[in-house]
Amino acid sequence: FGMMSYDPAFQNTASCRSRVTFIDGDKGILRYRGYPIEQLAEHSTFTETAYLLLNGELPTAAELESWEAELGGHAPLPEGIKSLLDGFQPDAHPMGVFLSSVGALSTYYPDAKQIFDDENRRIQVARLIAKAPAIGAYSYRHANGLPYVDPDSSLGFAGRFLGMLFGEPGAPYTPDPVLERALDILFILHADHEQNCSTSAMRGIGSSQADPFASMAGAAAALYGPLHGGANEAVLRMLAAIGSVDNVPDFIKKVKAGEGRLMGFGHRVYKSYDPRATVIKEQAYRVFEVTGRNPLLDIAIELERIALQDDYFVQRRLYPNVDFYSGLIYEAMGFKPAMFTVLFAIGRAPGWIAQWQEMLRDKAQKIARPRQIYLGAGERDYVPMDQR
Ligand code: CMC
Repeated sequence: FGMMSYDPAFQNTASCRSRVTFIDGDKGILRYRGYPIEQLAEHSTFTETAYLLLNGELPTAAELESWEAELGGHAPLPEGIKSLLDGFQPDAHPMGVFLSSVGALSTYYPDAKQIFDDENRRIQVARLIAKAPAIGAYSYRHANGLPYVDPDSSLGFAGRFLGMLFGEPGAPYTPDPVLERALDILFILHADHEQNCSTSAMRGIGSSQADPFASMAGAAAALYGPLHGGANEAVLRMLAAIGSVDNVPDFIKKVKAGEGRLMGFGHRVYKSYDPRATVIKEQAYRVFEVTGRNPLLDIAIELERIALQDDYFVQRRLYPNVDFYSGLIYEAMGFKPAMFTVLFAIGRAPGWIAQWQEMLRDKAQKIARPRQIYLGAGERDYVPMDQR
């Protein structure tokens, strides 16, 4: 096989050079465009962070205002997408609905194929980020037999989303400021994470020069899996199945015996506490002051306490990741577990797109086409049916 190296799942191969996001997994550091995630979570907003990821610098007041107006303008969905949403079964998983609808948007914007035209691309980018919340909100409304609520352009990004979810058509909606801010922070924390599975999918599909709607549908499909974005939903189901703090030691024993994983723990890159989990844990307490405490929190805290001092988890350097506490907040806000990964996808959209744009501008990039080490049969002659 000559000089070819074998690196299953590309665990040790850099697929690109990037200036977007920096992670130091040993120290638990995450920065977007150089800015520490803790500072962005404290001072920034999701729309500002999205601008930063896409453009490399924080916006001026005027730039932010026009970016937010643009997102507000692109927030409504084409009528045909609403009809498409109507066609799904009421119990359709919101992530299946989300990834299909993002893909379907590609048919409404054929001009999106002009991916090397900067001005055109800018419009498609705004469309993708702006329309993701309506798709997520309407999948929930449809599943619950509720009418769709138009996006209110006088609200901010997170507030507008909450209005489409929990408001009434034609009636003004005022989001709770604590919940609105918490959701905005969760979106910031999810906005990028360098070459994770879904971002690699976005770059891989985009490398064929597919349009950004098609590429993002593929990224969302990658995020759907329980080892990636589906983990937040799996955590909530796990906590509910454990049922009480007393059952935690038995559950840990089962995990150590290889009967299932402790969902929301472990990470390919972080070998220490995920810095996003620290911010989310703090937010959980703020949200619970408004919504009341989620009783599953006590089970989560006990799981973390036992796991962090257990040899199995210590030796493998398994710590809570971003998904461990986020579901508890989402549930307290009124989201069903099946919606959790959609929330992740809405937040991750700017990261997917920033990475895709970076790839398009990178002269060293080509169509993604890994090699293989062939282990199958050597040449042999076809065997006629009556001789098998
Ligand atoms: N519970 C129990 N054991 C675990 C866990 C876990 N959550 N994660 C890893 N291990 C064990 C694994 O069994 C293996 O043990 P051994 O060496 O004895 O075979 C060792 O730790 C190394 O695990 P790995 O599967 O080789 O690690 P990886 O880098 O391939 O997997 C991971 C990373 C995130 C897929 C994995 O830790 C996992 O499945 N975690 C649970 C799912 C989860 O929370 N995913 C969310 C990730 S963060 C946000 C996101 O990407 O969406």
